Amino acid sequence: MPLVPGRQILSEALKGGYGVGAFNVNNMEQIQSIMMAAKETQSPVFIQASRGALKYSNLNYLRHLMLAAVELNPDIPMAMHLDHGNSLESAKTAVELGFSSVMIDGSLKEDGKTPTTYAENVDVTRKVVEYCHQYGVSVEGELGTLGGIEDGVGSGQIHLTDPDQAIGFIQETGVDYLALAIGTSHGAYKFKTAPKLAMDIVKKVRAKAPEVPLVMHGSSSVPADLRDAINRYGGQMPNAMGVPVEAIQEGIKNGVAKINVDTDGRMAITAAIRKIFVEDPKVFDPREYLSPARDAHAKIVAERMRQFGAAGHAKDYKPMTLAENKAYYASKGK
Ligand code: G3H
Ligand code: 13P
Ligand code: ZN
Repeated sequence: MPLVPGRQILSEALKGGYGVGAFNVNNMEQIQSIMMAAKETQSPVFIQASRGALKYSNLNYLRHLMLAAVELNPDIPMAMHLDHGNSLESAKTAVELGFSSVMIDGSLKEDGKTPTTYAENVDVTRKVVEYCHQYGVSVEGELGTLGGIEDGVGSGQIHLTDPDQAIGFIQETGVDYLALAIGTSHGAYKFKTAPKLAMDIVKKVRAKAPEVPLVMHGSSSVPADLRDAINRYGGQMPNAMGVPVEAIQEGIKNGVAKINVDTDGRMAITAAIRKIFVEDPKVFDPREYLSPARDAHAKIVAERMRQFGAAGHAKDYKPMTLAENKAYYASKGK
């Protein structure tokens, strides 16, 4: 207990009017800091691994580290989630690894760069839903493309989601939750001038599909203090700008239940390590810089959990097993 199907965590969040942070991980320290924050704030959480993260960690390292987090945190509802899966094969790998939630980003072709047609997106997403639901694993789809390129993933161009098309997409694919493109992008350089999001898209989808949790990618706020600390200690992150927390909170009021955050964590870790290297050049034991980096990461994750309203909701409900979720899908003919 409790590796929880993403569907349950997000439908509870939708009911409770709060958002659940989905934080990216690549190594042990990131998993530990996110779980420290979840425990401290008593928040449900998504721990998510991109394909790049799985490759970096040879699949099984990350799987066992995530399972350690489940084992050590029996009171925290946690989903193990594949971020930006690009094919049925990547979804199968995640299911084999024991993930309880899978994203198929059918908005882009398998190269992770070229936008697909609507029909191509429906086709691959439906196949992933059919496959994952047999195992009680929940599925996130994406319609519309974000800007920004992370680790070679992303078209670099924003195509905002068409809200009417989103309703058809939900019906045709059976996805459990849907990522919308509303003007955010991955990474630390989201806006050149003032941030602006197309919140009307969220409102329109919510009005027609109130039971479907919505997902915001590219939701790091890129705090100025972390950017300035990185720059002060020898880094180069000029003009980095993110999504204001207030904009995310407005999204949550309008049906956003899953909020993807990676860059903020990367910045907290980098700022802490840079500071130590500059202030104490004699340090060479990795524990001496990884421990403060872990604490800095935990601090920002806990702050986001509180800001998204998830704090205090860890014990609101009895976690479901994947077998129970599988039975749920079967009962709905999904
Ligand atoms: O979607 C982007 C996430 O920040 C993961 O990035 O592909 O570099 O691991 P990554
Ligand atoms: P950020 O780069 O804004 O943290 O977005 C992360 C993300 O969307 C992961 O899927
Ligand atoms: Zn993303």
